[in-house]
Amino acid sequence: MSELIVDRYAVIGNPVAHSKSPAIHAEFARQTGQSLKYGRVLAPPDDFRATALRFRDEGGRGLNVTVPFKNDAFALATALTERARDAGAVNTLKFDHDEILGDNTDGAGLTRDLIHNLDFTFTHKRILLLGAGGAAQGVLFPLLREQPALLVIANRTPERAIALQRKTANRAVEARTFDALAGLTFDLVINATSAGLSDSALPIPRGIFAADALAYDMVYGRDTPFMQFARAENARVADGLGMLVEQAAESFFLWRGVRPETRPVIEKLRQ
Ligand code: ATR
Repeated sequence: MSELIVDRYAVIGNPVAHSKSPAIHAEFARQTGQSLKYGRVLAPPDDFRATALRFRDEGGRGLNVTVPFKNDAFALATALTERARDAGAVNTLKFDHDEILGDNTDGAGLTRDLIHNLDFTFTHKRILLLGAGGAAQGVLFPLLREQPALLVIANRTPERAIALQRKTANRAVEARTFDALAGLTFDLVINATSAGLSDSALPIPRGIFAADALAYDMVYGRDTPFMQFARAENARVADGLGMLVEQAAESFFLWRGVRPETRPVIEKLRQ
């Protein structure tokens, strides 16, 4: 009897126990009839490389990479997609013979969630991106590809916002301090800071949400001070669960060449 070979994938991170990725990919595999196994790999903080290579050498076909290893994954890749290069970080690895392809599906996940699930249109819109760390850089270029009228980057440490703005070399992009947001209004405000993880509020001036504005927090599974502030300012509020599922779908497509349906998976996770 011949043994059925099942392709193996996993999410690698530290911590990784609470990751929803195994449930999401199991659902994608069931839905598309793909035969694969998707698990979790806990890597020691200083041993990403060896852990990832061991997974590959044992037959692993791909990894989703989460905190704190997106830069290590970038360094491990032997080839990079353009969006991984733009992001300066890798959240998806694909092992193919000797090649280790590094991709970044976070930004595409965010724009797909905004456009397809939240009915947001970018044309003529003014966007505020809060934060200038890895999460912000990961989504910045994909947001600009949608050609909004203006994209302002605001960060607690102004130098990091300016550095990111310069990287874009795009006249529609501005860097500002939080204070210098007073008097401006935005159609979409994205929280890409990690402030919500420690329940810290951001010093955002009141009145920055345009009528019908959308406030998007890339965090999911908690009601952050940013979401509470936005709700009090009458903005429509979304968390990052849709982005999580959409970035997973992009990874699944890279690995399997099949695009799963995301809406039922998002709805299932919300329950
Ligand atoms: P990540 O990969 O999550 O982006 P990071 O590179 O450490 O992690 O960046 C964290 C981001 O959240 C930064 O923009 C940081 O602001 P600074 O550059 O000034 O550090 C922002 N951030 C974290 N906690 C914050 C807080 N309490 N108030 C305002 N900004 C905060």
